[in-house]
Amino acid sequence: MPLLAIETSCDETSAAVVAGGRVLANVVASQIKLHAEYGGVVPELATREHLKNFPPVARAALREAGVDADQLEAVAATQGPGLPQALMIGCQAAQALAFALRKPFLGVNHHEAHLYSPWIFGTPPAADFGAFQPNVSLIVSGGHTMLVHVEAELRHRVLGATLDDAAGECFDKTAKLMGLLYPGGPELDRLAGEGNAAAFDFPRPMLHEPGDDFSFSGLKTSVRYFLQKNPARADDPQQLRDLCASVQAAIVEVLVGKTVRAAKRLGMRCVTASGGVTCNRALRRDLATACARAGLELRLAEKTLCTDNAAMIGILAERKLAAGVAATPFDAEIAPSWALGAPVSDPAR
Ligand code: KG4
Ligand code: ZN
Repeated sequence: MPLLAIETSCDETSAAVVAGGRVLANVVASQIKLHAEYGGVVPELATREHLKNFPPVARAALREAGVDADQLEAVAATQGPGLPQALMIGCQAAQALAFALRKPFLGVNHHEAHLYSPWIFGTPPAADFGAFQPNVSLIVSGGHTMLVHVEAELRHRVLGATLDDAAGECFDKTAKLMGLLYPGGPELDRLAGEGNAAAFDFPRPMLHEPGDDFSFSGLKTSVRYFLQKNPARADDPQQLRDLCASVQAAIVEVLVGKTVRAAKRLGMRCVTASGGVTCNRALRRDLATACARAGLELRLAEKTLCTDNAAMIGILAERKLAAGVAATPFDAEIAPSWALGAPVSDPAR
């Protein structure tokens, strides 16, 4: 029974068609190049792009899946968290379509959907929920860094989150200090591949403190001071690579150390990770090594599903509908600050 899912929480316009745990199509129109000029996501521009991109992206997903709109059994969209105007485009389009088709609409939490992207595998991708295990899940992107205890399907508890900058933000801001273009994370990763991670010693914030929270703004500041004292370092190609490798090592060590520690403390046998920063090669490699050493199974979202996509929205929506979760009203409002695990109607949103 096909379901159309829509994601427009930030700077990716995405539509996916899923059916029976399988992703039939997952089309993503990224706005990265548009925002690069401004060094970050400009909400007004993002909104206009979503408005422009939504119809062709949704049509392409339906065409690729070989599904007509009137065959859809449900429509889902990210209801929150995210940029308000951006959320509004996808959510209201999905609500209007579901209303016109007289099918249920389901608004889902973007972060909850990230928890499911590591379970989407294969060609064509299929959600491998037969192998589902309770896990500790790292969600790490440009906007968020959090550790979640996924106790069972659709049951989860946030263990910790960043107190200031997200890890992706730390990658992007330190990359900018080194003169790399936005978003600097992927370029920093590329340069770090040829650098010496032991060349410079940067702090590992909160790595050895109790609790599962993170903090990355101090690391960014120490890179800033380092470059103020040693401006030539970023101009020399090999020193720049060493700098990238050293900064990356500090971020990755914190993410890996805290994730594995939480999984062991909670007696988990499985760790998962998703979000844009999960594309980082050192993070993927070091999580794999640390999990193997700790006897933990590791499920990483495949790279195309690390960044924001509607496939994960659709897979989660399908699981929810199958579990008997009630449809969301057609006139439900967006929830820009919807905390994972909190009710969508929480006044704090
Ligand atoms: O999930 P995402 O596409 O969007 C949100 O932030 O919600 O994540 C984008 C973030 C950016 O900060 C980007 O620099 C980072 O993920 N990123 C990376 C890599 N690829 C993307 N950071 C480090 N290494 C990478 N290979
Ligand atoms: Zn995301």
